[in-house]
Amino acid sequence: MVNTMTICYIIAMEAEAQPFIEEFDVQEVPGFFAPLPCRLFETQIGEHRLTVVLNGKQHGSDLVGCEAASVATLAAIQRLQPDLVINCGTCGGFKSEGAHIADVFIGNAVMFHDRRVPGDDAWGTQALGNYPVWEGAKALAKDLGFGMGKVTTGSSLDMQPCDLQIIQENGGQLKDMEGAAIAFVCSLFSTPILFVKSVTDLCDSGAETFEEFSKNLAAASLALRDANKRVIEYLIKK
Ligand code: ADE
Repeated sequence: MVNTMTICYIIAMEAEAQPFIEEFDVQEVPGFFAPLPCRLFETQIGEHRLTVVLNGKQHGSDLVGCEAASVATLAAIQRLQPDLVINCGTCGGFKSEGAHIADVFIGNAVMFHDRRVPGDDAWGTQALGNYPVWEGAKALAKDLGFGMGKVTTGSSLDMQPCDLQIIQENGGQLKDMEGAAIAFVCSLFSTPILFVKSVTDLCDSGAETFEEFSKNLAAASLALRDANKRVIEYLIKK
């Protein structure tokens, strides 16, 4: 990358970020994005700036989903001008693809699975997204021994049959609620994006998704912390 880097993590849920925030001792800059709900935490690692942006809360719960993620990413890129955006968070995996609870994957591609727009190829292409990911993602995953998968984003935690059809037809593997929205904004600024995702639930396990997600959230968030320690060390050495 560059000599002095600004890395910007975009994380939806406080619980996903908490172990990471504690590990890196990033400090909140209160009101930085006011009146937007997103929150900035930051620290310096040598000559590099490590920033963490949480989507923030509304009605007492974390703002998950594409709208808040887009707002946070737009504000973060405009205000922080990061060299690399990292979307870190939990996801649903597929046991048919070899995923296990708390596995960490690096994204090798990203798409939407719930934007069903009739019409010609141009509408279909826009609906799917398929935005670029950072060109160094593959080497990072290989060097650090992470598996890779295609991030697939929708606005719901559950999965309807029509979502599954689009996921299967387009090779989606890591089901989340923010990734493609963040990648969309990054693509507008040509800001590279890296995905670091940990599995809380298996979409094809037959279990109730929210229950499985809640049960495994803490373990997956610890796995994210450990993975991010290695990711940051790797990026800084580069
Ligand atoms: N985040 C964690 N698990 C998820 C799932 N199954 N779908 C969407 N987002 C998620």
